[in-house]
Amino acid sequence: MANVVVVGAQWGDEGKGKIVDWLSEQADVVVRFQGGHNAGHTLVIGGKVYKLSLLPSGVVRPGKLSVIGNGVVLDPHALASEVERLSEQGVSITRDNLRVAENATLILSIHRELDALRESGSAGTKIGTTKRGIGPAYEDKAGRRAIRLMDLADLASLRDKIDRLLTHHNALRRGFGLDEFSPEAIYEELASVAPKVLPYMDAVWRLLDEERRAGKRILFEGAQGALLDVDHGTYPFVTSSNTVAGQAATGSGLGPGAVGYVLGIAKAYTTRVGEGPFPTELFDETGELIGQKGKEFGVVTGRKRRCGWFDATLVRQTVRTSGIDGIALTKLDILDGFETIKIGVGYKLDGQTIDYFPASQGAQGRVEPIYEEMEGWSGSTAGARSWADLPAQAIKYVRRVEELIGAPVAVLSTSPERDDTILMKNPFEG
Ligand code: IMP
Repeated sequence: MANVVVVGAQWGDEGKGKIVDWLSEQADVVVRFQGGHNAGHTLVIGGKVYKLSLLPSGVVRPGKLSVIGNGVVLDPHALASEVERLSEQGVSITRDNLRVAENATLILSIHRELDALRESGSAGTKIGTTKRGIGPAYEDKAGRRAIRLMDLADLASLRDKIDRLLTHHNALRRGFGLDEFSPEAIYEELASVAPKVLPYMDAVWRLLDEERRAGKRILFEGAQGALLDVDHGTYPFVTSSNTVAGQAATGSGLGPGAVGYVLGIAKAYTTRVGEGPFPTELFDETGELIGQKGKEFGVVTGRKRRCGWFDATLVRQTVRTSGIDGIALTKLDILDGFETIKIGVGYKLDGQTIDYFPASQGAQGRVEPIYEEMEGWSGSTAGARSWADLPAQAIKYVRRVEELIGAPVAVLSTSPERDDTILMKNPFEG
């Protein structure tokens, strides 16, 4: 029996929520392993709408263990308020069903401020972040000066850790011509939230190892998408964590052998929020129409998403960098009714044809997509639950996507409704 890791195969917002929810029903343990409350998805269960940002999707289902791994950057206030909000909706969250890694790095108010400050800088330096403090918190983690969850349990030495952190941050503040942060204010901020989050703290690597040995099914829930990976994405227009599937092991404390089946989620077209290259982006009414039909607005920030055709070159690359075994193709119904549909199959770069996305920022900005044009379909795929329900041209499109990306479509999603899904393979069955 395999464990499963779900990762976005594009720039995030691929519709992971519905797929993760369906898989979490079959899982015993659901683990977040990177990112933080920059993620966002909506679950609809039994007619009730739940908005999750930091908590793993399993948390809304009774009997599941949800785990926030060490690879996540944790805003303790965001955790406390998400727990509170869900409790008001009748979801019980206790140590019995939620554990958070003791060695998870904390996001503090100073990180949120710094994120916003950098984003308010001059054009060209902006990344278009979610301003949640994600990047600055990961910087402090790599800089070996971060405050981690376990530090809240040792208030006597917390002051020294804050002083060390502020040596760095206050130097930066002075450079920006801003007032310095007071160590007391940060101490108070942390001491007041500590009792709300410490009850969930655990040695997650050990707990997960026990669960694995007991034969429990583990679902690793990725956030964002492989093209936002800090190494493999469109650097510097990326998030600050590794979003590829390999991070599921590092970010939870299990070995790579525990990861199992890698399910990549890809939209039948492409979207992106924030700045950065997007070769198949559409600036015309087709792009507008895709955005309207697909309701392409961010769950966390409400920002309008940029829209374009499916870029097979990019997804083929993420299939490789994440070791994707199968794809869940989502939102196929948004392409219903287009007379013709384009797929990006390669690029022109400085007069040469290439079949990969180059790593350099300059080249990523210069590539021009090479398109293959296919006939669209006039029938509807919305709500289809079997291949027989799909127009022949839609099947052709899916088959062509599989061929171009070098991975099979394991799951096809044809509406936000949970049952509007065509299943070729259950990832948990290996
Ligand atoms: P950060 O993660 O807030 O630092 O933002 C860095 C980049 O990642 C920006 O382009 C964001 O728009 C993007 N990003 C972060 N989280 C998500 C997400 O959940 N979906 C899509 N894009 C995201």
